[in-house]
Amino acid sequence: MHLCQAFGKGEHYWHGEGYWSVTYEECSQITKSQQVRGSAFACIEACVPDLFATNLLLFLPTGGPESEWAAIRRVLHAAMLDRGAYQYSERLQKLSSQLALDWPKPQLTDFSDTPRLRLMVVKSVFFMIFGIWLDDQDAQILRGWRDGAVFFVLPRLIHRFVFNFLIRKVKQLRIDTVGVIEKLGLQQMFVDMNKNLPEKYRRPTDVKLCDEIMFAVGFAGVGGTSAACETIGAFLQRKIPEEASASLISFEKYPTVEDMVAAYKQNPVKYIKEACRIDPPVTSCTRVDPTERELKFLGIPYKMQANTLNQYVISMANRDTKIFENPSVFDPTRKELDMALTWNGAFGTANEETVYPRICPGRFLALDVVQAIVPPGSQSLAKVSMTG
Ligand code: HEM
Repeated sequence: MHLCQAFGKGEHYWHGEGYWSVTYEECSQITKSQQVRGSAFACIEACVPDLFATNLLLFLPTGGPESEWAAIRRVLHAAMLDRGAYQYSERLQKLSSQLALDWPKPQLTDFSDTPRLRLMVVKSVFFMIFGIWLDDQDAQILRGWRDGAVFFVLPRLIHRFVFNFLIRKVKQLRIDTVGVIEKLGLQQMFVDMNKNLPEKYRRPTDVKLCDEIMFAVGFAGVGGTSAACETIGAFLQRKIPEEASASLISFEKYPTVEDMVAAYKQNPVKYIKEACRIDPPVTSCTRVDPTERELKFLGIPYKMQANTLNQYVISMANRDTKIFENPSVFDPTRKELDMALTWNGAFGTANEETVYPRICPGRFLALDVVQAIVPPGSQSLAKVSMTG
């Protein structure tokens, strides 16, 4: 919001190496389109191949069923995220008891223990994908994807300024992540995924594909779901999460903690979606705008060359008053709830996979994991709502 005012106030502003789009109409239209992408992140050229792996799914242009992007998405979905697969439902059933062994009866205030909460997210996401419950040591390695989230948005200049210290940390994180896969003997999944890719997209080594896919699992999966759990944990206590701005979130509809907990128990999915609308785990995404266009910053027209970077800002689209009534008010019962673009598309609308080709493939897993970690039927939440 502040950036928007400083750099061009209006429907667009300039920051980094490109222009930022903030209206719902434009962000929605972009998420529905066949996006051109490049090795760019947070509207700056990404540090590739040191910080980010090359050929990351996020950097591949959207394309038809024959494209590289579609091929990677397909093998990723089939191996890791297919909710129709027997192993998904079997693991989901076991997830709560695994969590209960590791974190018995967490009280509401325990959700403020961010390091532990993140550890539980890592273990849950890993268990759902690989069927193995990690020990604390391995889980702490993978927690680095959330703990180091800020490193990914810094430009190369800043990295040079700190003597590439942070880049080295992420490089090590990537090596250690692949090391965990190897240690646990899980390489075969990536061997098979690579084999299942059309020959022209096959990675030169299986470990290269493992690095790329585990980047997506760590960065999007662990990072996004941890942020969501941190938000839910704070909201249930009527607290504003650390990174969010108190002036932009109102709990007026739920005056007490008991009211907040009752709203969650009433409909956890709606609660999670609304919390993530108002405090999105992924606030914006980068694409390349292939067309030349003229935009106004502070009323002054500027020509954007074709292939300028463009950041579409989900967090601001999710607050556009043209769509969301009283956008700062937290209200899981709002009628426009499913219009929010939180998961890179309007999650919960008709044909979402077709209408929003890049909608997050892990969105259902994210909802399942949050509900397992913060179980709406748990005794600790029941105690809170009984006192209300
Ligand atoms: C609350 C949790 C989550 C949120 C809010 C979220 C949101 C998003 C968003 C906004 C994107 C688009 C990013 C971009 O294009 O730059 C995305 C992409 C992606 N997400 Fe998620 N995500 C979450 C959890 C997960 C989980 C649990 C997984 C899997 C383990 C996952 C896997 C992915 C992948 C692979 C992509 C790339 C899709 C593509 O480019 O086609 N996400 N997610």
